[in-house]
Amino acid sequence: MPGLDPGIRHLRRRLDCRVKPGNDEEKPEDLTMATHKLLLLPGDGIGPEVMGEVKRLIDWLNAAGIAKFETDTGLVGGSAYDAHKVSISEGDMAKALAADAIIFGAVGGPKWDAVPYEVRPEAGLLRLRKDLALFANLRPAVCYPALADASSLKREAVEGLDIMIVRELTGGVYFGEPKTITDLGNGQKRAVDTQVYDTYEIERIGRVAFELARKRKNKVTSMEKRNVMKSGVLWNEVMTAVHKREYPDVTLEHQLADSGGMMLVKAPKQFDVIVTDNLFGDMLSDIAAMLTGSLGMLPSASLGEVDVKSRKRKALYEPVHGSAPDIAGKGLANPIAMISSFGMALRYSFDMGALADKVDAAIAAVLASGLRTADIKSEGTTAASTTQMGEAILKELQKLHA
Ligand code: IPM
Ligand code: MG
Repeated sequence: MPGLDPGIRHLRRRLDCRVKPGNDEEKPEDLTMATHKLLLLPGDGIGPEVMGEVKRLIDWLNAAGIAKFETDTGLVGGSAYDAHKVSISEGDMAKALAADAIIFGAVGGPKWDAVPYEVRPEAGLLRLRKDLALFANLRPAVCYPALADASSLKREAVEGLDIMIVRELTGGVYFGEPKTITDLGNGQKRAVDTQVYDTYEIERIGRVAFELARKRKNKVTSMEKRNVMKSGVLWNEVMTAVHKREYPDVTLEHQLADSGGMMLVKAPKQFDVIVTDNLFGDMLSDIAAMLTGSLGMLPSASLGEVDVKSRKRKALYEPVHGSAPDIAGKGLANPIAMISSFGMALRYSFDMGALADKVDAAIAAVLASGLRTADIKSEGTTAASTTQMGEAILKELQKLHA
């Protein structure tokens, strides 16, 4: 890509090695273009604002004849509760099941603190993950060159950072039964959550991690708590067995999840792919997000198994950040995590790796130009609203595509 500054070229090279298996980078776009069905679920808080910036991108891709997306919109989280007294309606679940990919904003907020547990905003997201069997959650943490100083860590520690957290998403303590609060009748209550993993669940998430590592720096670090938890003992055993049997060419390391968290803030560049369970993955990915400068930067993909016949897989793409109700509606939200989540959809659902690279390069170029939303603002940079950031990224993309 001539004309790009060296920092961005370097970033692009790093992004290239994240491309999914079998993706033909230089393939010209197909003239008999397939129509892809997207379900947009903006959700609550800043969700609708950041989704608006993705919509801007989709509209342009359609208008320019670069891709054909058919979009539908639904309600999830608090907005679904307000309309239907549920966290997602059956109608929207049916749409989700029929879509080629779901683009998800964020859910939750203090407004719904008092709603029944079963219909709390987060339940909508958890149901989507479970019912669509989206067991593999990919959370790449890439430090854009222009943002190395926005991290709370020293520049040397994060510059050039490129790690992929692979979080198991449909098992563990999030879904294990029993999950109860019992009144013991003596003024005490007892709460139980269940951490449970079967061999097959560990095997399949392990395979996702090893496959990704082969396209990257060929290293997987598995994190659990085998010193305290039986599920950690099994996790470690199964990862070791899958590695030995199917991926001996990949380097596998094991770390206890607590010391892994410590290492993530001490020397994050030692990692390539981190594979871990649902709860540890939730925590470790928030830590990884901050390494990149802001939670507003981290995208994610939640993927199901590839269907042998159709070669398709269910998928949901969402920013790692939450609904940030404190800044909702003020034009302050950073749309980058949402836009790059859409970039992941191009890459992992629609085989448009080259276009996804351009989206990433457009983001890098805008950051290099000094434009910043409030969360990543530093001295000497130019303040931008959500919309201004979205527009600037689209303009760069149009330039890269011309
Ligand atoms: C995430 C979020 C969710 C989770 C919440 C909103 C249920 O924190 O995707 O990381 O805990 O998985
Ligand atoms: Mg989380």
